[in-house]
Amino acid sequence: MEVPRHVAIIMDGNGRWAAARGKPRYRGHQVGAESARDVIRRAGELSIEVLTLFTLSEDNLSRSHEEISSIMALLNRYLVKERDELRRNNVRLQTIGNLASLPPHIQRLLEETRLFLQGGDGLILNVALNYLGRSEITHACRNIAQRIERGELHSRDISSRLIDDSLQTAGLPDPDLLIRTGGEQRVSNFLLWQLAYTEFYFTDEMWPQFREGSFMRAIHAYQRRERRYGLERAASASRGACAL
Ligand code: FPP
Repeated sequence: MEVPRHVAIIMDGNGRWAAARGKPRYRGHQVGAESARDVIRRAGELSIEVLTLFTLSEDNLSRSHEEISSIMALLNRYLVKERDELRRNNVRLQTIGNLASLPPHIQRLLEETRLFLQGGDGLILNVALNYLGRSEITHACRNIAQRIERGELHSRDISSRLIDDSLQTAGLPDPDLLIRTGGEQRVSNFLLWQLAYTEFYFTDEMWPQFREGSFMRAIHAYQRRERRYGLERAASASRGACAL
């Protein structure tokens, strides 16, 4: 059965998982980073092309300094500790979001890791950091407007394709599957443009509990869906292999 080309995940519930165990929020993020490691490895084994992880939203930046630092420290540790393993597995690293307001040492590490992994031809690990879908779309609009002002484009050139190409996800397929853990059923300003035809999978499991078995349940649920892209049943079936 077809695996999704692109899986996007809203990794929610770290704080609640920790609170339910009388532990600090940091512990939830720490165990959540282990879930991320498991899912990244499994996604590579399944030959999924892109895995996008919502790791930090712009909204999250208003959390306490300690909490943001702990998430940055976990990302730092993951990239340092796992980078050889990621390279062995042909993983490439990409980021979306406003990286310029992240701590400079994290920006440097992300760039170094991106370069270290650039020869891979397997999974693209796309990490969303300080990201919001509306900010990404606003930025793309501004960029298109500037190109029109410079005379490089005409307003009639604006198309869905041009907008795709002006987003930070340019060149990536749209997500086939969005997974959200933690019991909430909303998109929280994640990949707003790109989720147009995406299948959603919500689970009450908290992210620290979401390991390989949970990921496979989500993939199997996706494989049972019929994707219609707004077409009628028979027409969608003839759309090709990706119309599951
Ligand atoms: C949401 O849970 C989770 C985050 C804001 C941070 C996610 C970060 C990690 C899992 C570590 C990153 C590591 C890698 C390797 C990508 P929440 O704190 O909002 O949970 P709550 O809704 O229960 O409070």
